[in-house]
Amino acid sequence: MIPFIDLTAQQARIRPALDAAIARVLAHGAYVMGPEVRTFEAQLAAFCGAGRALSCANGTDALALPLMAWETGPGDAVFCPSFTFAATPEVIPWTGATPVFVDIRPDTFNLDPDHLEAAILAVQAEGRLAPAAVIAVDLFGQPADYPRIAEVCRRHGLRLIADSAQGFGGTLSGEHPIAWADVATTSFFPAKPLGGYGDGGAVLTRDDSLWERMDSLRVHGKAVAGDGALNGHDPKYLNARIGMNSRLDTLQAAILIEKLAIFEDEIAARQSVAARYAEGLADVCLSVPVVIDGGVSTWAQYVVEHRNRDGLADHLKAQGIPTAVYYPVPMHPYLTPETQDRIIAAVRAFNG
Ligand SMILES: Cc1ncc(COP(=O)(O)O)c(C=O)c1O
Repeated sequence: MIPFIDLTAQQARIRPALDAAIARVLAHGAYVMGPEVRTFEAQLAAFCGAGRALSCANGTDALALPLMAWETGPGDAVFCPSFTFAATPEVIPWTGATPVFVDIRPDTFNLDPDHLEAAILAVQAEGRLAPAAVIAVDLFGQPADYPRIAEVCRRHGLRLIADSAQGFGGTLSGEHPIAWADVATTSFFPAKPLGGYGDGGAVLTRDDSLWERMDSLRVHGKAVAGDGALNGHDPKYLNARIGMNSRLDTLQAAILIEKLAIFEDEIAARQSVAARYAEGLADVCLSVPVVIDGGVSTWAQYVVEHRNRDGLADHLKAQGIPTAVYYPVPMHPYLTPETQDRIIAAVRAFNG
């Protein structure tokens, strides 16, 4: 059976560096908010040209933190695509706000800016909810149409979150989504393009005061500089707001530092794997992925449409090739040409 996502090939590549990084954490023992967390946050921000990065426990909390910091709540409408992983809309009712689902583009599967505009106007016309924010998603790895989405947000005074859990590292005209969004978020779930060895997430922003409020929220609403005088109290016991416990483990940060060091190289390898799939499959599938003009996808998944999807999945399974509906063909940067040829030949041989 070909692995759906082969994490062992990557691990073999950087194993000595990982072992050394883990040993360093075991030696200093600062398991929570240790020095690697700060180092990783700085490196992550530098990687995508954001002012600051705030790490947290997972990519779902990363979406909730900015909404909480902006005090999004009951009566607010938060717009998101109708086709995404459950976490994107899930965080909206956490805050008391109402999710408003917006259609996607049929070619890229990402948020359609024209439908976004129509949905905002419909909410305004109805008058029950106040449009507050938009969460655009980089589905399957490729950036949403940020220039147009950001323009709609600007015109209607809405905040924009880029949910890059699947697409972190992807760019549009050479820029990362944070160039257009108020915040960009990501997940370090192991199968994600930049994945750790457990749960983790991060929020990127250019806004220092937002970063500070989210820093408070991720540690039970601890007091931060903007909350005024501490009067001799330890800020962690001076709880200025209702927060949560959402920190990235030092061990995960140490592992992610090593993975970030090879991430550019892996994104390049993913482009070759995707190009090879496109070449081998375009004429036998209803569609192979279309990337937005000027976009670079991190290819979290390589998704094809086929007129007999379930028949094709059974046919491939019988040949040891795993697929999943929504993530139907194996996709990772360590796929060898031989393995890919086997997959492409098996798809091509299907007559269903
Ligand atoms: C689009 C999207 N948003 C958010 C998340 C949530 O990330 P996590 O699983 O780290 O909470 C995921 C990942 O599963 C995702 O695919």
